[in-house]
Amino acid sequence: MLVFVNGRIVPEDEAVISVFDRSFLYGDGLFETLRVTNGVPFRWEQHLERLKHGADFLKLRLPHSTAELRRFVEELVTANQLPEAILRLTLSRGVGRRGYSPAGADRPSLVMSVHPLQSPEQEEPPRWRLVTASLRLPAHERLARFKTCNKLPQVLARAEAEAAGGDEALLLNTDGFIVEAASSNLFWLANGSVRTPPLDSGVLAGVTRAVIRELCQSLGLPVEEANLTREELMKTEGVFLSLSSVGVAEGIALDQQELRRSPVTREIHGAYRTLMREETLGGASRSKRQAPAGRLANVARTASPQPRSRKG
Ligand SMILES: Cc1ncc(COP(=O)(O)O)c(C=O)c1O
Repeated sequence: MLVFVNGRIVPEDEAVISVFDRSFLYGDGLFETLRVTNGVPFRWEQHLERLKHGADFLKLRLPHSTAELRRFVEELVTANQLPEAILRLTLSRGVGRRGYSPAGADRPSLVMSVHPLQSPEQEEPPRWRLVTASLRLPAHERLARFKTCNKLPQVLARAEAEAAGGDEALLLNTDGFIVEAASSNLFWLANGSVRTPPLDSGVLAGVTRAVIRELCQSLGLPVEEANLTREELMKTEGVFLSLSSVGVAEGIALDQQELRRSPVTREIHGAYRTLMREETLGGASRSKRQAPAGRLANVARTASPQPRSRKG
């Protein structure tokens, strides 16, 4: 594997950064995970926007311009010959003095790697068994919406879920409401609408979460933000999860109790795949010329001809 490290593409065993790097010492950095398809990083602009917002919040400098970064991604994907892949980007504050103070750490590191897909994409969404994590996320925590290199609650929650035979962990916040899953945002279906917890509940501002909202709009499905308890989630009409590396996954069980399943989940999964294909068709050069807003028209046409109202 070839890896991008601070402006150079190098073999994996030469892709090294300092043991004094602050993302290693303190998680003082940000990351992004993107799906590359047809050689194009899907929704690159939105991922970059989140990265920039996070960098502003952490007072971190992006060491490359937006245009340079986009070019480096293309070069990395081509060098690895992986047009279908997962792209991981890490921005770290770099090396500074010993201790928490970021003073003097003014040479950030940027690393990118591309990884083969774990499983081929299917017509149907993957089915995930969820396990409620014992750790709680802090409600109303602004830091939560950024993809910081501090994801220990999510790491431990996923380990807990896997130890219990599950695929993904469901996390609650300190107010007792569901927030998201360890590596994905959560949606449920109720009374004809698609619902998801508000950002304020401690949610990571998922790029796929935003794409799902756009898709629902073009499919004529109302989307609402709401707080819900775990017990209430058990009674909903269907549950699905969203994340860049997979797209849409269906929640089929929670703590070994079956969840209800809705055809709307499959519809949204199909629409998401169509959108991803449409936006990346023709490779990198065509994708850069198109504006995201114009592309949804095709999805609406392919997946559902008319906006409609639903009763549930
Ligand atoms: C905690 C958490 N929530 C949600 C998501 C989904 O975000 P996105 O759609 O941007 O991949 C992720 C992705 O890794 C995550 O780590």
